Amino acid sequence: MKQTERAKALSYTLALANEYVKEHAPLLDRSKRPSYHLTPEIGWMNDPNGFCRFQGQYHLFWQYNPFSPKWNTMYWGHAVSHDLVKWSYLPIALAPDKPYDWGYGCFSGTAYEENGMLHLMYTCVDEDAVQQQALAVSEDGIHFTKYERNPVLPVSKVPEIFPVKEFRDPFLFRQGDRYYALIGTKTDACGNIALYRSINMKRWKYVGKLFEGDEGGLNRGAYECPALLRLADKDVLLYSAQFLPTDGERFVNIHSAVYAVGSLDIATGKFTTESIGEVDGGFDFYAPQTVVSEDGRHILIAWMQMWDRDYVTAPEGYVGKMTLPRECSLVNGKLRQVPIREIEAYRQNKCEAADFMLEDGEQKIEDFAGTKTEISFTLKIGTAGRAGIKLFQGVGCELSVYYDRVRSCVTLDRGNCGAVIQGAFPETDFRTRSVAILPDGDELRFRIFLDRTGVEVFLNGGDAVMSANANPEDGAESVSFFAEDGNAQIKDAVKYDIIVK
Ligand code: FRU
Repeated sequence: MKQTERAKALSYTLALANEYVKEHAPLLDRSKRPSYHLTPEIGWMNDPNGFCRFQGQYHLFWQYNPFSPKWNTMYWGHAVSHDLVKWSYLPIALAPDKPYDWGYGCFSGTAYEENGMLHLMYTCVDEDAVQQQALAVSEDGIHFTKYERNPVLPVSKVPEIFPVKEFRDPFLFRQGDRYYALIGTKTDACGNIALYRSINMKRWKYVGKLFEGDEGGLNRGAYECPALLRLADKDVLLYSAQFLPTDGERFVNIHSAVYAVGSLDIATGKFTTESIGEVDGGFDFYAPQTVVSEDGRHILIAWMQMWDRDYVTAPEGYVGKMTLPRECSLVNGKLRQVPIREIEAYRQNKCEAADFMLEDGEQKIEDFAGTKTEISFTLKIGTAGRAGIKLFQGVGCELSVYYDRVRSCVTLDRGNCGAVIQGAFPETDFRTRSVAILPDGDELRFRIFLDRTGVEVFLNGGDAVMSANANPEDGAESVSFFAEDGNAQIKDAVKYDIIVK
């Protein structure tokens, strides 16, 4: 063994990583952490991985670098929950402890249960940055053994049209007596999702291109983290598209989480697309995965963060969090997402405000103050040009969410909420994101979740969602409603504290 290989074999172990977390995580100041959004104990978290139900619990894994709040060689972090709200950390599940993982480590992947065994299929990235697919199995859902003949989908099985350094994030599923894997990739021209078939998960055969982008050569990146689910008799394909060109208010972030509605013919391996939408219209949402709950709900979770941004929590020793899990459905061909109902068990201190009119001005509601809360209300759009709510208010600090009549959209503005969070080119608007939305008559329904370092805004019962991290100053916790250039009415306003211990 070469010197460097020996060094990697000795240092990239599960034992060392788990010891590091055990020793260093308790030293962090957690006072500014969110309360009901999952964050890593210490270090860097990105994509959710292997989201599944196994032996009566939900398991969530994620892309993890325990050693620093920066992306680096990847491990798989791991937590379990009974209700998808309160999580318990488990030991790290996968370490880059094999030669085929010794480059950038264990990239994203998915879980599949069969005969009481939990199978993880993930991308292993070797020292030449080549991305192949590997398998690990577990009987207890905690300790995983990598298959001795990994990689199960080696580079020799990848057609030349796909670059071997852009071929990752297997989505493993079964239909009939065959297993299938979707792999995120690209060609010279556009993002792609490749389809593979297997009889045993251990030997894979290329079927073809399942889905390819039609950005007319404008897309420079790969499609990452594919996932497939079935809603309202349609196949819904989720993927995370790098550098997707902006389209009006859609796809404004550097990378975008997309859903395609259509039908998959598994025999030919072709996905016929009927429509495409952006999963979340805010700033911070990527790489969603879904799980089916015991009672049949499709629950979606995503990384509530974006690549190439200022990571303002890094000085606290961690970066990254997961969104609130959401129940999804398909209504008139569009994805609808509502907060998981289990969150309601954690509501405390209910406060209601009597309906009131706003006349070109601002009204603070003292009882609504807080940074770990749920606030819902109906906005009856009167004559106002803009009307909505201000959150995380302090001296010179606020995050606003409002309806803009001229642009017929809801806008989230985090540009005055602490130090502005900047992103890399081609992003230019670091302050606002908007979603086009039609009021229901002249009313818009808002349901907003605040959790110290960010907000998730659900509009009109989940027709659109906006997730955004924020950087409020300590103590910035007042809440006001406002109208500009006219009047508006606020109805049925309710606030709860959300406390998860
Ligand atoms: C998406 C992604 C995946 C990859 C992982 C690496 O955010 O780039 O494609 O597997 O992150 O951490």
